[in-house]
Amino acid sequence: MTFGGSSAENSAAEPLEHPRLLTHPAAGCPGGEDDVTLADLNTLLTARHSCRAFRPDPVPRGDIEQIVASASRVPSWCNAQPWQLVITSKDETDRFRDAMSNEARNGTPAPDLPFPVSYSGVYQHRRRTCGWALYNAVGVERGDRKGSAQQMMQNFALFGAPHCAIISSPAELGPYGAMDCGGFVTAFALAAQALGVATIPQAALAAYSPFLHQYFQIPDDRLILCAISFGYSDMDHPANSFRTERAALGDFVDWRG
Ligand SMILES: Cc1cc2nc3c(=O)[nH]c(=O)nc-3n(C[C@H](O)[C@H](O)[C@H](O)COP(=O)(O)O)c2cc1C
Repeated sequence: MTFGGSSAENSAAEPLEHPRLLTHPAAGCPGGEDDVTLADLNTLLTARHSCRAFRPDPVPRGDIEQIVASASRVPSWCNAQPWQLVITSKDETDRFRDAMSNEARNGTPAPDLPFPVSYSGVYQHRRRTCGWALYNAVGVERGDRKGSAQQMMQNFALFGAPHCAIISSPAELGPYGAMDCGGFVTAFALAAQALGVATIPQAALAAYSPFLHQYFQIPDDRLILCAISFGYSDMDHPANSFRTERAALGDFVDWRG
């Protein structure tokens, strides 16, 4: 099985190495033995968090394949399944980490997908809250520009993760392709969590899209959306010691009727 180049056509033509991975284990009828409860899902949803310090040990290839196959069950408009992934092995991740850090130090940001214009009001508040939660956890104080820059650079060192997935979507599908891929990213994180694998989605890397296109030979007709660094959590690291809050339903649901 290849991660980046497989297509529906290929899948139909070639016997699958792991056909079981493409059959959802919970595809049974409601009430059947495969039934999954909301509590099961909530366990995964609340256990997952963005990991910002990883142990170096690699994730077995079979586990990564299961995560990717599970994530691919998400819906997408017209079932286009627009996501394509480059996934790095441990050795390749180490090479990429150095090259990416060098690019972030010396290159100029030029994301394929425009970055947010601004965060105002409640969005600004939430952004600051999670940013300060991280800085407080790792001991970066207000006004410590050197400390905050060092912590920010950890993005490009992939927080020490042994693997990185670069997610791209066909440019012709526009924002809806990106939307479909967003669902894929979330499902990837949840499937990983189910196998004890920690993740962090990273838009920071996509700031250097031209470099990523060139480094991984990702065609220019695809938009680089984000990365997911993943591996096993360094649970004792202070960067992993905080959790983010979520707004109450009343803050974002407008019930009608
Ligand atoms: C599309 C996307 C891009 C993100 N990019 C970054 C990033 O570049 N660096 C980072 O530290 N966290 C990044 N995050 C993680 C968010 O900061 C995190 O999801 C949010 O603060 C909620 O925290 P939680 O994931 O621990 O629940 C990103 C998350 C998403 C969904």
